[in-house]
Amino acid sequence: MESRDWLVSDNGECQACILSGDVQWPSNPYRLYRFLTEIEDIILTFKENRRRLQMIRPLVRRLLTSSYWLQTEFLEPSSATGFSILKLYEEPYFGLSAEIVAARPGIVSPIHNHGTWAVVLLLQGSCKYKFWERPGDKDFPHKIKPLSQKVLVAGDLISFMPNAIHRVESIGDEVTVSFCVYGSQENQRLAFDPILHTAEPF
Ligand SMILES: [Fe+2]
Repeated sequence: MESRDWLVSDNGECQACILSGDVQWPSNPYRLYRFLTEIEDIILTFKENRRRLQMIRPLVRRLLTSSYWLQTEFLEPSSATGFSILKLYEEPYFGLSAEIVAARPGIVSPIHNHGTWAVVLLLQGSCKYKFWERPGDKDFPHKIKPLSQKVLVAGDLISFMPNAIHRVESIGDEVTVSFCVYGSQENQRLAFDPILHTAEPF
């Protein structure tokens, strides 16, 4: 069976992961507060982001499989920006947040990294992700080079290492809805300009 779980490494490579959606979950409800608590335990126990993501990916799938209300919970995209963010969890001085992002067809994000680990499960619609690497130009440390792209459809999951540089575009003819969970802002999140070879916090 083709993988539906992906990991984008710090150098922009998009790699297939062992499928976490094929697991038989316990039948008892898996609630958001328990999901968040288990992620906190993972963050405290495992310091390596790749390991954290390996542990968190199946929990995201379990949460969205178990929680019907989350599968249908999003804000209509703003008419001004074309997207909306429904914050599910965030608190000061603690590096964990969860939100549901909805975007109209044609909406394109900046080219960015997250400065932290991230997991995104696409709940509705389809997206085209593009990935870049930093070739390591001494004069232009933020210079980036395109690497590859991948189209995701509802049910696909993509996870990011902190320096994975990417851009997401909503494609198709329906609003895209994604469940997103992020770790601490260990490094500042950056938006990249591929023409000027610069990067700015965003
Ligand atoms: Fe992103």
